[in-house]
Amino acid sequence: MDLYAGFPDGFFSRADESPDAVFYRPERLVTHIDDRAIAAVGALYAELGIDGDAVRPMRVLDLMSSWVSHFRTPPAELVVLGMNAAELAANPAATERIVHDLNADPSVPLPDGSVDAVVCCVSVDYLTRPIEVLADAARVLRPGGVLALTFSNRCFPTKAVRGWLVTPEGRHGDLVAELARRAGGFGEPVVALRTPPGPGDPLWSVTAVREGSA
Ligand SMILES: C[S@@+](CC[C@H](N)C(=O)[O-])C[C@H]1O[C@@H](n2cnc3c(N)ncnc32)[C@H](O)[C@@H]1O
Repeated sequence: MDLYAGFPDGFFSRADESPDAVFYRPERLVTHIDDRAIAAVGALYAELGIDGDAVRPMRVLDLMSSWVSHFRTPPAELVVLGMNAAELAANPAATERIVHDLNADPSVPLPDGSVDAVVCCVSVDYLTRPIEVLADAARVLRPGGVLALTFSNRCFPTKAVRGWLVTPEGRHGDLVAELARRAGGFGEPVVALRTPPGPGDPLWSVTAVREGSA
């Protein structure tokens, strides 16, 4: 079965197809969205009950992570996976760090059902095989666990997939929801604009719950 049937040729290709390890080698200890959008990410995680204020200790995977994970209070266990070891080492909320290129290998190196939540902030647009990555996110999530993908209207344009760049920003939610649907293992994804109208970076989310029983 072609997971990507119906997407135009080249939709998941990029202007810069050199290995991601090259582009992400320099450490970037910066924030990619403004304070209002960062607060919206933290508020979403709190609302989903996956941060350090949750009713029980949470084990969370932050996919495509860097030195900040945007939790208001960090979960008890936070596994951060990204491309740059120095950025991950500087993440004060992290309890485990994994350097792994999801475009070279879209599998997530964690056991089945081993996390309560998978989050990914302002990065899903860099995945060339996003459906396989989200399918593996479903595999590592426990039944009832939460997927939370957030994104804004900024990116590294040479590293974002072409289909993202040509999709109007108000339609990215529909695109990401469709990727999660095709990945399988999730209930119907929910798309939301998490920031109010007005100046500043917009922040959208796509959330979905892992299906199945424990
Ligand atoms: C725009 S930054 C976002 C970082 C962080 N999630 C945040 O909210 O600030 C993009 C991140 O995606 C990660 N990334 C990019 N390509 C990747 C790949 N092929 N595999 C794994 N991580 C990747 C990089 O390490 C980088 O930290």
